Amino acid sequence: MNRLRLTKTIIFLAALVPLERLVWKALHDGLGANPIEVITHSTGDWTLILVLTTLSITPLRWITRQYWLIGVRRMIGLFAFFYATLHFLTYIWLDKFFDIHEMVKDVAKRPFITVGFSAFVLLIPLALTSTAWSIRRLGGRNWQRLHRLIYFTGILAVVHYTWLVKADRRKPIEYGIVLSVLLLYRVGVWGFEKASEKTKQQAIPVPSRNPL
Ligand code: HEM
Repeated sequence: MNRLRLTKTIIFLAALVPLERLVWKALHDGLGANPIEVITHSTGDWTLILVLTTLSITPLRWITRQYWLIGVRRMIGLFAFFYATLHFLTYIWLDKFFDIHEMVKDVAKRPFITVGFSAFVLLIPLALTSTAWSIRRLGGRNWQRLHRLIYFTGILAVVHYTWLVKADRRKPIEYGIVLSVLLLYRVGVWGFEKASEKTKQQAIPVPSRNPL
């Protein structure tokens, strides 16, 4: 088995562990007095962790020069979407029983729900266009542009978390710091690319229209 396939298998099995733990606890009365809260928090946490992990693959592959790591990014991103869907379903199904009236009331009372929902909506086009066929259809540049939405998902997810906690803001702040580092890295790379493009353009002499 080659390195990429082995890493993908390990990531696949590891990414299912949080779900397996929840199922195991549910079957063994281990979810405590408020099971919905436990499921919401666990799926929310894992969505955010996986979004940030997806964002960290590009810097990681450049820093470690392990360029093959790009091959695991799609799987981690899809797992982020999977846990976000479970998180969303827990809310609309287990918590609100598809009661639209209740949800509208809740959205008005707790604005962090709208922010979380926006983060989730942004993940949908990314999951739908994660195939090699979509990359060919959209063209590499457009696909890359679309997939930058993941940064907005990250920002909205951290805002969602910061707004929902009542007292101890340590965890959302920690996630916020990780996200800021990843965003700064991106901005740095973008600035560097722009600067070297400009230098290249200046170095190439423009041919005169009338050589005589
Ligand atoms: C990418 C999308 C999302 C991410 C990354 C995310 C992340 C999180 C995180 C990290 C938590 C806190 C977990 C903890 O306390 O340990 C949380 C809680 C929560 N989220 Fe989300 N979320 C997302 C989308 C949504 C959506 C779409 C909804 C509902 C429409 C939602 C509703 C909630 C609720 C109700 C809570 C619990 C609030 C409380 O404890 O009072 N989230 N989410």
